[in-house]
Amino acid sequence: MRAVQITDLSGPDSALELVELEEPDASHPMTPGEGVVVDVHAAGVAFPEVLQTRGQYQVKPPLPFVPGSEVAGIVRSASPGAGFAAGDRVAAFCMLGGFAEVAVAPPWMTFALPGTLDFAQGAGLILNYHTAYFSLKLRGRLREGETVLVHGAAGGVGTAALQVAKGLGARTIAVVSSDDKERVARDGGADEVVRSEGPWKDAAKELSDGGVDVVLDPVGGDRFTDSLRSLRENGRLVVVGFTAGSIPDVKVNRLLLNNVEVVGAGWGAYAMSRPELVRETAAELHRLADEGFVAPIVSERFPLERAAEALKLIDERRATGKVVLELAG
Ligand SMILES: NC(=O)c1ccc[n+]([C@@H]2O[C@H](COP(=O)([O-])OP(=O)(O)OC[C@H]3O[C@@H](n4cnc5c(N)ncnc54)[C@H](OP(=O)(O)O)[C@@H]3O)[C@@H](O)[C@H]2O)c1
Repeated sequence: MRAVQITDLSGPDSALELVELEEPDASHPMTPGEGVVVDVHAAGVAFPEVLQTRGQYQVKPPLPFVPGSEVAGIVRSASPGAGFAAGDRVAAFCMLGGFAEVAVAPPWMTFALPGTLDFAQGAGLILNYHTAYFSLKLRGRLREGETVLVHGAAGGVGTAALQVAKGLGARTIAVVSSDDKERVARDGGADEVVRSEGPWKDAAKELSDGGVDVVLDPVGGDRFTDSLRSLRENGRLVVVGFTAGSIPDVKVNRLLLNNVEVVGAGWGAYAMSRPELVRETAAELHRLADEGFVAPIVSERFPLERAAEALKLIDERRATGKVVLELAG
């Protein structure tokens, strides 16, 4: 099969190579002897793969390796008891190995693809939407009728968070940096959009009648203090990532003075030891897809051999929604 490998740590421009490899068996390293083999129609591209081309991600497999944490496609074969059969349409979280014509995933990380979604959308369904649901509902305790402010709202996690929040009955305020990203955030279901270079904190407080209930922050950096200031009493700031590059400090007196919380949300580490939680989240997301709330916004599609361009789009802050590699399947 054709696959793209990371062969050195020189960055997205030069670290990738198109190669021919043996196809995987129905056995995943996380579930030895068990696995679902998928004919990949689309592979999701995300921030971690950019970091992996520089050796900057926490997961550092020995070189060379095939990156790609999530795919969508058609089941080719599955180990007995996996719950899937040849021909099933699925979205699957394979951790690594997704940038290939054939990938293998653990059965408990493989899900029926909602009928409302195509393969490219399926390749954007697991990482971002499970993170969004986990961050908003479980960590942020978002309730119906509350207001949530989403940073990086035109990005992968951001658009997922807007859609999931709407599905949970919340009102959404998106923070974005450009006109293009404003359009994407509105497509994602933002009720209000404010600009990151403007007085977004004051605008958010005005739009939420004094303060938002939840801030979802995949960006970090120097906007953090204003995020805390934009919360109402009992508000929760959920820390999801640091695309701005710097990890903010918290002056904890602000938490005391305003009775607000800062909550961490690291989906991967939490979910990997909780198959039941992952299944429940997948079922909720399937329901939200059926109801029309969850529909990943695919902004860019590249063939496998142009994977480097996909990574550079993310690296250069030009990506919106989900970037995918499309394969013939
Ligand atoms: N905690 C978890 O479990 C978890 C799970 C998945 C992903 N993540 C993390 O969440 C973060 C967002 O991932 P994503 O897939 O949504 O990324 P993305 O699609 O590239 O979106 C990130 C957004 O961050 C904003 N941003 C602000 N400063 C930036 C900068 N200097 N460089 C790049 N972007 C910048 C951009 O929006 P504006 O231009 O509008 O500001 C961009 O749209 C990443 O750090 C990722 O590793 C965490």
